[in-house]
Formats: sequence, structure tokens, C-alpha cells
Amino acid sequence: MNRKWRFETRVIHEGIHPERWEGATLPPIYQTASHRHPTAESLRDAFGGRSADHIYLRLTNPTNRVLEEKLAALEGGAGAVVTSSGMAAITNACLALLRSGDEFVAGNSLFMSTYILFAHVFKKYGITARFVEPTDLEAIRKAVNERTRFIFVETIGNPKMDVPDLAAIAEIAHANGIPLLVDNTLATPYLCRPLELGADVVIHSTTKYLSGHGCATGGVIIDGGRFDWMNSKFAEEFKPFVDRKGPLAYLDKVWREHHINFGTTQSPFHAYLTMIGLDTLAVRMERHLSNAMEVARFLAEHPRVKWVRYPGLPDHPDREVAERQFREKGFGALIAFGLKDQETCFRFIQNLRLIFNLANLGDCKTLIIHPYSSQYLSFPEETRRYLSITPDLLRLSVGIEAVEDICEDLRQALDRL
Ligand SMILES: Cc1ncc(COP(=O)(O)O)c(C=O)c1O
Repeated sequence: MNRKWRFETRVIHEGIHPERWEGATLPPIYQTASHRHPTAESLRDAFGGRSADHIYLRLTNPTNRVLEEKLAALEGGAGAVVTSSGMAAITNACLALLRSGDEFVAGNSLFMSTYILFAHVFKKYGITARFVEPTDLEAIRKAVNERTRFIFVETIGNPKMDVPDLAAIAEIAHANGIPLLVDNTLATPYLCRPLELGADVVIHSTTKYLSGHGCATGGVIIDGGRFDWMNSKFAEEFKPFVDRKGPLAYLDKVWREHHINFGTTQSPFHAYLTMIGLDTLAVRMERHLSNAMEVARFLAEHPRVKWVRYPGLPDHPDREVAERQFREKGFGALIAFGLKDQETCFRFIQNLRLIFNLANLGDCKTLIIHPYSSQYLSFPEETRRYLSITPDLLRLSVGIEAVEDICEDLRQALDRL
């Protein structure tokens, strides 16, 4: 691959080798549970890591491998493992670094399932997540102690819409000998490449913008390959992985200890669908971003809208960080906004004619959800408030339809309240 090609070209051509696939421009879907080996020696070598030949779908798959190469290249990473979902990626990425009694520091504006995993599921195994405002560098610094194994943040908090300063957080992490893990789902590598800003591991739910059409679930863990796992915090546990895989020690640990034993395999069909989606990522993102900016302005000016949180609006507290970090390409395509109360939000959703009411984001279609009464329904009131989930909040995932039609649908639904 010509490294000088721009992202818009590389997102299409990275990992694509028609010469290996009888001229096909996408890899075949290797829909097979297992791979025949011509000799016992060949299977032994595959198990022993002396060959990269495939063995069994739960371990690796040729279609998935193409997606892994593609996503690693797009984020500027050294390697990647794709998983069955974004949550599988987050679980594996974190557990590869955690033992009972350990701690980690996490931003408090996390996707709902990530919060449950960190606050409740990990707790059962004696692991403590210390939640902080991810934009408060002093709070992050104070939360790190000798038991902390990593820092975890989202590029754009979902649905709080805050934008942490990744370069500054990476500095704090590295000063303490620990890595920074970033869930880059909401930004995508089109908008932000956390590894270039100093992060060590990037995670995505590929279910969202990367596949882009709401038709495939998946996740990915991308290893930057630069963190020193032989520092005193990690050396004892990481030595066998460093000996085996050098700069890809972390990815090897994720894969060998967790991915293959937890069985978090991605379906090759979903990997294939995700690759079709990736071909149009750059043009979709361009449109998502420009539409979202216009919709945010529209909402901010409408008298029935109480408040709007979108990093592109001039009054957003993280606008300057977002501009710098996203290289002035845009500010994401998720908007949080408030109406009078929950009842008004419900009537508003009922009034919509174009926009879909469903639990997803990053689809090319515009989507809306009332988080308080759906994803966060079972959360105690105190936790909802802590996570900024209020009864008046709506989350809009702006799609790539004509922006006039999106605004018109919002306008007619607001006017009929
Ligand atoms: C930021 C973020 N991370 C992770 C996930 C989980 O992804 P998946 O649904 O693919 O498990 C989501 C899902 O909405 C998300 O928004």
C-alpha cells in the first residue's frame, strides 16, 4: 500500500489483494468452521505458531484477517483482532490487563453497557473502576495509584458529548507506566486517530459507523505496538507474550488468553459486510459531519428545544479540544438535546415521520432514542444523574439523508408538540 495515499483512498484499498482472490475486489467469505491441513506437521506448526495458517473459526478466519489488516492500517496500528461485538472487544481489551485486586481509571461518560461492565461486572471479580470526569486532567492524575493498570476513555462521550484531551491523558498514563485505551467508535479513524495522539490501544464497535448500515455487529481491538510491556508494572505477566510476539505482545495476550477462550469470534459474513461498509466510510462521514453540524444549529435555534450538547457548537466547553483533535474535519454525528420533560420527548418521537426510534447509532439513517426510558431504564436515579441521563434528554444519531429533510422532520415534530 502506498503510504502517501490519503485516508479516503486507503480506506478503500488497504488490505485488498485481488491477486489472492482470483481477481475479486473483496475477499471471499470463508464460511467454514475449520481448516483441513495436508499433514500432521502442518497442523502442529499452526498450533505452535510457526505458521500463520488457519485452524478453527473461533481462533482466526481468512475473511476476518483481511478486516483486521484493514482496520489496523486505518488507525495506524501494528495489528488488530476483530470480535463479535464492540462489547466483546471492550471486555477482552480490558481483561487482558486486569487481575483480581487491580484498578483502572475510566471516564464517567461511557456507553451504557461499558459502564455496567466496569461498575458492576468487573467488581464481582475484585476489580475496581475509578470513574472520573474525562475532561478533568487533575482528577485523572489523582485517581491513578500503584494498582492502576490502564486509563480508558471514549473519544466522544456517549451521550454526554464531552471530548477528552487524548494527548494530555496519554501523557498522564505514560508518566505512570500504564497504557491509554480509547473507544473510538463515535469518531472513527476518519475523524480521529488516537494512536497518533499517544494512545496505546484503540477499540471500536464496528456495528456503528465502520459498517455503517445497521446490518452487522462487530468489534475490533487495535494494538499500537509501541507500549513498553517490560516495564515493572507488567513485565512478569507479559514476558512470555513479549518473547513470542515482540511489539504485538498485548494483542497476542488479548487473543490467546481471552478472545479464543471466551469465544468472542466475529462471523466472517459480518466481517465481509463491514468491509463493504468501509469502502464508503469517508464519504459517509463527510456527510454525517456536515449534516450533524447543521442539525445542531437548527436545534439550538428552535424555541421548543431547551438545550443542545454538540461539540461543534461555539458554547461547548470542549470545542477547542475537538477542533484540534479532529483536525477541523467536524465534531461527530451524535447530538444530545433536551425538551421540556419525558412526556414531551415521547410525544415528539411519536410525531417524527422520517427519523427512526431505535437503539443504535452510526447508521446512514437518522435515529433517535430517549435513553432515560430505554437503555438506562433499570438504572437507579442517582446513577442516571451521575451519567447525565435525565428524563428530558434525547439522543439523535444524524444520518446521511438530505439535511433539509432531517431538519424538516424535526421541525414538524417540534411544531406539533
Ligand atoms: C461508544 C460505544 N462503544 C461500544 C458500544 C458497544 O458496541 P456493540 O453494540 O457492537 O457491542 C457502543 C454501542 O452502542 C457504543 O456506542
